[in-house]
Order: sequence, then C-alpha cells, then structure tokens
Amino acid sequence: MSIHHPTKTDETSVAWSGRFSEPVSDLVKRYTASVFFDQRMWRQDIRGSLAHARMLARQEIISGADLAAIETGMATIVAEIEAGKFNWNLDDEDVHLNIEKRLTALVGDPGKRLHTGRSRNDQVATDIRLWLRDTMDGIDQLLRQLQAALLGLAETHAETPMPGFTHLQVAQPVTFGHHLLAYVEMLERDRSRFADCRRRANRLPLGAAALAGTTFPIDRAFVAQELGFDGVCENSLDAVSDRDFAIEFCAAASLVMTHVSRFSEELILWMSPRVGFIDLADRFCTGSSIMPQKKNPDVPELARGKTGRVFGHLMGLLTLMKGQPLAYNKDNQEDKEPLFDTADTLVDTLRIFADLVPGIRVKADAMASALRQGYATATDLADYLVKKGLPFRDAHEAVARAVRRCEAKACDLPDLDLAELREFSTLIEDDVFSVLTVAGSLGARNHVGGTAPAQVRAAIARARNRL
Ligand code: ARG
Repeated sequence: MSIHHPTKTDETSVAWSGRFSEPVSDLVKRYTASVFFDQRMWRQDIRGSLAHARMLARQEIISGADLAAIETGMATIVAEIEAGKFNWNLDDEDVHLNIEKRLTALVGDPGKRLHTGRSRNDQVATDIRLWLRDTMDGIDQLLRQLQAALLGLAETHAETPMPGFTHLQVAQPVTFGHHLLAYVEMLERDRSRFADCRRRANRLPLGAAALAGTTFPIDRAFVAQELGFDGVCENSLDAVSDRDFAIEFCAAASLVMTHVSRFSEELILWMSPRVGFIDLADRFCTGSSIMPQKKNPDVPELARGKTGRVFGHLMGLLTLMKGQPLAYNKDNQEDKEPLFDTADTLVDTLRIFADLVPGIRVKADAMASALRQGYATATDLADYLVKKGLPFRDAHEAVARAVRRCEAKACDLPDLDLAELREFSTLIEDDVFSVLTVAGSLGARNHVGGTAPAQVRAAIARARNRL
C-alpha cells in the first residue's frame, strides 16, 4: 500500500478539542501527527476495533444494533482504503482517529460509542503488536526461503573444496557447501529469536484503557481470543507503556542483518577479481558510469550498509524508552518509524538474498588453486605424525620446518618427495600422500559438524527436516 500524505485540513473539531480555547498551529499539527506513517496499521486497527466492539455488545455495554452499524461502517472503510479512496486527514492526527471519525460520519452515534472503555493508548499498543505479529510471520517465511536457497547451493557444492580461512589466511580445506551451511545455522537461530519475540509480543493490551483500566464490565479474555493473542497483558500501566517487543524485534533484526552483512562481505571479497571464487548474476550488480569494465556487487554492499541503519533503529528505540516514566507518553509515537523501517529493510534484504543465492556461480577452479597456495594440509600432516606416535607439539614443529622448506622452494607440501619429507620426521612413510591431498583432508573430518562431504550431506538433510 502506498503511503498517502494528508494535507487537507478541515474546520470540524478534533476528537479532543472540547477542552481547548485555541487550535494548534499548522506546524504543531504536523509535528504531533502520526497519520503519515501509522496509516499502514489500518487493517490491525480495524481488526482490533471490531473485536472490541463485539466484546462491548456481548457484555451489553453497547447494543446489538450498535455493533451491526459498526461492522457495516468498518466494511465500507476497508473497501474505501483498499480502493485508495479513503481521505486521510491530518486534522485527525493518527490512524485511530481517522478511522473512528470516518466511522462516525458513516454510521452516526454507534461510531461514537466504539471508544467506550478504551483509549488510544491501549489501542495503539494493540495495533503495533498485531502488526508486528503479522510481520514476524512473514519474516519467518522469508528466513526459511533463504535457508532453502542456501541448502540448494550447499547440496550442489557438498564436495567442492575451497580454502577455509582464519585471519583471512588460508587455514584448512573446507567444502563450499560446508561454508554455506554455517549461514543456515545462523538463520536458524534468527528464526528462533523471532519466535521467542513473537511469544512475548502476543499478549493483549486492550482493557488497560488510558493507563488504569476501565469502569466498564469488559471481557479481556474474549478480546484476546478474538485477536489470536495467547493472553492479556497483566498490568494496565505496563500494557500501555511497554515497547520491549519492538526493541526485541529490532535486536533480532540486527542479528539477521549482521549475518547477512557478513555473508555480503564474503560475497564481495569472493567476487573481487583478485580472489575470483564466485560470480553474481548480472541482475544483482551494476556498472560504473566512467569505468566500462566494472561489474560491482552493489546488492551485497548495500545490504552491508543497511545493516548500520537497522542497528541505528535499535539504538534509537532503546534511547526512546530509557527516560520515560510510566505510563504512556507521546514519546512512544516515535516507536513506529524505526520499527517499520527495520521491518521493511529486513524484508527487502531477505527477499533479495533468497533470489540472489541460487544465482551464485561458483568458480571451483579458482577455489582449488587458492588451496594450493597456503599449505592448507599442514595440520593434516601434523595429525598424521601424532597418529604415528609423535607428541603434538613436536609434530607441529616438524611440519613448521617442512613449510619453511616449501616456502624456500615455492612449492606446496605434497610437492616434496618422500625422502625430503623424511628429513623432518622419519615417521613419515609413503601413506602420507593421501593425507596431504585436499580430498583426504576433507574426508578425514568425518564427524557431526565436520566438513567431510558425507557430513555436509547429512547436515543438509537435517536442516531440510527442520524446514
Ligand atoms: N498516535 C499515538 C501513538 O502513536 C496514539 C496514542 C495517542 N495517545 C495519546 N494520549 N495522545 O502513540
């Protein structure tokens, strides 16, 4: 839905204007309004209002006829908003007052009765929770799609060797599939963080009214059930002032973005001609306006950059809340833009990466040749000597000397012949060469969590089961 920017002002009175002797200035009106951005919660606002109205009728606080009028009016409003014909009005401050005012214009007094036993304070808290719940359900879906994309590529490359790095120095051989599975694990934890956040967010604030509860005989459990909440917020002051759920959401989103940003950094590095491990599909890259040869990994770079803005929103929300006394303060209206922007950034990033990953073209030859340049199987040689009875520290020392010899001769460990290798330890025999190959090194790490192709395939199967 596109965001409408209301400009129209009218002379009819604002919902709370009865107490005031002069209207607010246009600047103040604009400064205090939230309808520019909170109109995107209109579906949740109407859902919440309908559940509230049904409860009011059940409890005989309003009549059945009132409820019927409210339901008819709301159906009209839904149609108007969906058709882009709803007139969002700056004078009515926020999504809640805009909808309530239109309802009253459509159905008269029943519209004015809707706000019985309720405040915008518990209303907005309910709307955000409903909106966030819907949003998190969508995000879980996207996280799973990205995991599925990574699993697909990992399966294709369950046996493709690449250098594993520590300190960005060649460390030991891993398979590209194994490397990708690391991100599947991160995203799995991300999913569980959102599930956890959803569980705490899924409680009903309505009934708290402004802050202290209401004098009407309401049935909060009924409203909670109508709206699919697991229960009610237990304390009315907390119900209207708590924004922990928004902060938790931004924290969970920050971690997803951290993971995507690390992956982006790797993609950028791997795509650099100096490394040349992969290529990204053209539709995720852009050219340079001056250098005709360039193909830049703009999408991963932007994802890395947008991570900063999501962190900023988390810090913004924490700061927003830290000085607020109980209960509701207008400060809280500032929760929405960071929250919405965090969700939008995350959703777009996940969608684009789920599409980008299957299009990664792996240059296995470049990975293999990089593996011949960093003595990637040195640890395997040390382990070999240990298995022949040498204490590990001595084995480490012997192999380090062999590496220095290779450096001097500009060759790799398997390029030394048996006689030369035996200068470093007479325990070395001709079974050493299978140990020094990349395939031997990979296959030997054959335990849960290891990089052996058989283990990678088993890990893919387990991850698919979780999906
Ligand atoms: N627009 C407000 C918000 O987003 C709604 C609640 C306003 N309540 C109030 N007492 N002014 O937080």
